[in-house]
Amino acid sequence: MADPDLGFGRVFTDHMLVMNYTQGIGWHDARIEPYGPLTLDPATLVLHYGQAVFDGFKAFRSDSGAVVLFRPRDHITRLNRSCARLCIPAVDQASVLDALKRLVHLDADWVPRTFGCAVYIRPVIIATEADLVVRPSRRYRFFTILSPVGAYYREGFQPVRILVSDRYVRAARGGLGAAKTPANYAASLLAAEEAKAAGFTQVLGLDGTERTSVEEVGTMNIFFRLGDELVTPPLEGTILPGITRDCVIRLASHWGIQVSERRISMPEVIGAHASGKLREVFGSGTAAVISPVSELVFQGKSLLIADGRVGDWTQRLFDTLTGSQSGKREEPCGWTLPGSA
Ligand code: COI
Repeated sequence: MADPDLGFGRVFTDHMLVMNYTQGIGWHDARIEPYGPLTLDPATLVLHYGQAVFDGFKAFRSDSGAVVLFRPRDHITRLNRSCARLCIPAVDQASVLDALKRLVHLDADWVPRTFGCAVYIRPVIIATEADLVVRPSRRYRFFTILSPVGAYYREGFQPVRILVSDRYVRAARGGLGAAKTPANYAASLLAAEEAKAAGFTQVLGLDGTERTSVEEVGTMNIFFRLGDELVTPPLEGTILPGITRDCVIRLASHWGIQVSERRISMPEVIGAHASGKLREVFGSGTAAVISPVSELVFQGKSLLIADGRVGDWTQRLFDTLTGSQSGKREEPCGWTLPGSA
């Protein structure tokens, strides 16, 4: 089991990867430095207008003792897609992957040996030009920090209670929803704080127009098992294209499960619950892994899922993902890469 004391993102390793961008030169000066504070001019653009992107993936210690990276290329590709939306110049995938492997190799002693734990790799790009005009920066800083982590939620793999909010909207069509950018997380804070105060672990957001279709939980994508169909909201620009979401879709399809990426409304979820068709609900994310949901509360109405227990598909997905990450099970899709240069 994941070490409950490690938590998520509280401690950091000894080193970080840093690289600069200057218009006319491109990305340059990639270097590994001791972990430490950044010095920024108070007029730095990112501090005022939020031009920033990030991503997150994990390095695992496999049973053989080797360190492996989980889908690193897909995460760097997604980072570049986020860059495109935020007018940030893309990084070179191959050289960044190479540099990240060197960083992980250098700090490899930090990769935990406990099952379910990992080193979380957090690449970030911020606009660093000092200027108060609203326009894309001509200078950027890329940095990557590493943090040994256990479970993201206090509950670990235990089911979580989720509030469905029709009060706040995380992202609207045409907005930033599909980019991994700090603004989306800032937009989710108030809803999450109110939900926590009411005893919930997280908030499930609805679409910004009708406020009826399910979108995502601030820290994970969401899946519903309706009878023998696995349903998850489609990628229409308002939700994050989760890499773990993609793993779930590919694994479930590989097992012969009918997976539908389609809109699913709260009335449909409530109807499926009433008819007994709603058999499982779970979230997926790099940090959250596979997180079973025991209860959804919407407009004061409580929907208890699977009598509060972990469903079969949820368990199988969790076991397969964590098993292949730790090398305990055969890795079905070639998702791991050796973690050294
Ligand atoms: C991740 O799952 O990697 C995320 O970035 C979610 C974050 C809120 C921890």
